[in-house]
Amino acid sequence: MITTVTLNASIDKAYVMERAIENGTVMRVKEVRNTAGGKGLNVAKVARICGADVQATGFAGGFNGQYLEDLARRSDVETRFFHVEGETRSCINILDPKYGSTEYLEPGFDVKAEDVDRFLEEFPSIIDGSSVVTMSGSAPRGVPADIYKKLTGIMKQAGIKVILDTSGSYLSESLSGCPDMIKPNEDEIEALLGIRVNGYEDVLRSAQELHDTYQIPWVVISLGADGAVLACEEGIFHGKPPVLTPVNTVGCGDSMTGAFAVAMERKMKPEEALGYAVAVSAASAMSPLTGHFDLAVYEKIAGDVVVEVCG
Ligand SMILES: Nc1ncnc2c1ncn2[C@@H]1O[C@H](COP(=O)(O)OP(=O)(O)OP(=O)(O)O)[C@@H](O)[C@H]1O
Ligand SMILES: [Mg+2]
Repeated sequence: MITTVTLNASIDKAYVMERAIENGTVMRVKEVRNTAGGKGLNVAKVARICGADVQATGFAGGFNGQYLEDLARRSDVETRFFHVEGETRSCINILDPKYGSTEYLEPGFDVKAEDVDRFLEEFPSIIDGSSVVTMSGSAPRGVPADIYKKLTGIMKQAGIKVILDTSGSYLSESLSGCPDMIKPNEDEIEALLGIRVNGYEDVLRSAQELHDTYQIPWVVISLGADGAVLACEEGIFHGKPPVLTPVNTVGCGDSMTGAFAVAMERKMKPEEALGYAVAVSAASAMSPLTGHFDLAVYEKIAGDVVVEVCG
């Protein structure tokens, strides 16, 4: 089983409008789509489509928290959220013909220090039976930046593989905990290493440096349409997708994380895992839905993904 951790989950509401938004007026919404949102839930849905048994955890609150779990289960993802006081936030994305997408993100609840402690205490039982755990995104207010380092420690003790996909201080504070894989994109690498990534050589150097300095077994840097680079003990590899006309690239990184979790669970070698994750995430760029891909589209793309040895 794969467990995905989403500390800052939300109910994502897409409001489809017939006409352009006019501020200060009453607008009627043509269609509403509600989904279980947050990066880790995208990871969960994609890993499920890949065929894995998947469970989602994180913080949830109130009726919205119950609704979040219900929505996740409708995607065939089991849930074991830790419930705290307050309501799970909603994130509203207004889609209209003039402005495209306008997002309103609620701040969400604060988590009390004692709830963080209780979550850490309960975590070993939540992840019991998992072979791989992914942790994605930021955390609500009140959760310390080293939370992922603490969770990583618990998983390492249990012999469970850990994939971390986060940014800012959540990432920098966790590297010394030595997760089995990280998946920053170029912006996240620049913020983490305090450098400007100027071209491909810088990408390769950054991946190698993170692998060497922190002993992180798999360092993946994702490069959007250029695929991804993986630095590991076996060398550095570059997985390249075919040229596509993407439909929706939001959450492609989450799809990549989900596919890597599945690859780890199936004990794929690094090159094979990279090729698989590039194909799944490229297929996800061809789906209008976030945290989704079509298996038939994946099949078509998989044959055209190339994995090259870079060093
Ligand atoms: N236009 C595209 N064509 C083909 N594949 C793509 C495209 N965009 C993204 N991908 C695939 O998805 C992977 C992850 O994309 P990206 O580097 O944009 O992640 P990200 O910035 O972490 O995204 P997010 O955080 O929104 O999920 C890429 O490594 C690539 O394999
Ligand atoms: Mg990302």
